[in-house]
Amino acid sequence: MEEMRLQKYLALSGVASRRAAEQIITDGRVTVNGQKITELGTKVTESDEVCVDGAPVKPEGKKMYIMLNKPVGYVTTVSDEQGRPTVMDLLGDVNARVYPVGRLDFNTEGLLLLSNDGDFTYKVTHPKHKLDKTYEVLVTGKAKANAIRLLEGGVVIDGRRTAPAKVDVAEAGKGSAVLTITIHEGRNRQVRKMCSAVGFKVLGLRRIFEGGLTLGNLPIGKWRHLSPAEINLILKNAQSEGTKK
Ligand code: URA
Repeated sequence: MEEMRLQKYLALSGVASRRAAEQIITDGRVTVNGQKITELGTKVTESDEVCVDGAPVKPEGKKMYIMLNKPVGYVTTVSDEQGRPTVMDLLGDVNARVYPVGRLDFNTEGLLLLSNDGDFTYKVTHPKHKLDKTYEVLVTGKAKANAIRLLEGGVVIDGRRTAPAKVDVAEAGKGSAVLTITIHEGRNRQVRKMCSAVGFKVLGLRRIFEGGLTLGNLPIGKWRHLSPAEINLILKNAQSEGTKK
């Protein structure tokens, strides 16, 4: 491996996009051979030991793109201060270091992408690309009469109105219902907060779709590689969605 700038090294390692890697460096989270480096121009080679937050990182030769059906009870981080299980615990047989592409709450299950390609992560997660994500939500409780229309029009959470959403009632039972909610924002606990804003209590939340990719019948707790067609599809959607207002 030729000598390269530290931010490129981090992007090739899948830690973050090149731009986000610059922030990680200036935040003082990176060491090279045990020494903290905050200088962006720093050059490294394969023989250097580069760590982020104390964990060694290495550029992967092969780009990996994975879909996991995340179970409830796992955090979407590489490690957890509270010692809770992480999605990494489910990837024991993946032969490369991959990182979550976006997040799902501890209590949310479903489609989670992981990759060691920092530029892919950037394209898929950047809010300006407005990738659609669909959630199945099991709700109960006494909601407002026009709850579905309110959710579709946008509700105020954390002091700011959500963008219009697409909402369908997939199943309606006695005292509970399954909604499918499609949003393109990725605000913190957004679907839970949207539902509670209109009076629903969320009993279960599962992501079933992201940027053209569907969970299909991938069993809970299992992962698979994305096909080249799936990688192209989500990148194409990230590009074209990005032109939306
Ligand atoms: N909305 C939520 O509330 N939680 C998630 O994990 C994803 C979307």
